[in-house]
Amino acid sequence: MRQFRDAPQQASQHPFVIRQMTFEDMPAVIALEQASFRNPWSPELLRRELEHDWSTILLVEEPLPGGQKRLLGLAIFWIVQDEVHILNVATAPEHRRRGVGRAVMDELLARGRSRCCILATLEVRRSNEAAIGLYRSLGFRSVGARPK
Ligand SMILES: CC(C)(COP(=O)(O)OP(=O)(O)OC[C@H]1O[C@@H](n2cnc3c(N)ncnc32)[C@H](O)[C@@H]1OP(=O)(O)O)[C@@H](O)C(=O)NCCC(=O)NCCS
Repeated sequence: MRQFRDAPQQASQHPFVIRQMTFEDMPAVIALEQASFRNPWSPELLRRELEHDWSTILLVEEPLPGGQKRLLGLAIFWIVQDEVHILNVATAPEHRRRGVGRAVMDELLARGRSRCCILATLEVRRSNEAAIGLYRSLGFRSVGARPK
């Protein structure tokens, strides 16, 4: 799916904190990946993304009483020249439909715009209605289907 720079932009109002992942976040991120995907990203793959300067892993957290934070979701994306490519988006199963996915997508698209990107792309399984619903609500449109 693709979204162009002229797609309507809506900055979501949300109570979350969004920041970049560091190596210390690895255990919580692995747990979120495992809860979200049949084929979760491995620590090795995530470590490699953290080392690539074209790659960003954003974490969505919720402040808890007592100063701690709970990890709710993440997005992994690349900025290559004037394109944003989204590799992975996930919200913890028990926190879905709270606006976490939209918040992290809004943030990564804003980061892309601030780096003068004109196009955002991603791939999603045809059967993934939740993700397609999220991406469509953000202005993404289908541009083709790979067999199987
Ligand atoms: C896809 C996913 C990230 C959505 O995260 P989320 O935090 O629940 O999404 P949001 O609450 O921000 O939803 C935003 C919009 O997306 C759409 N949407 C989200 N979940 C949906 C669902 N189950 N069915 C239909 N539309 C859905 C709706 O338009 C929703 O807006 P609304 O709640 O006002 O109706 C989440 O379902 C997930 O982690 N799935 C498993 C991992 C995955 O498949 N990732 C995508 C890989 S390409």
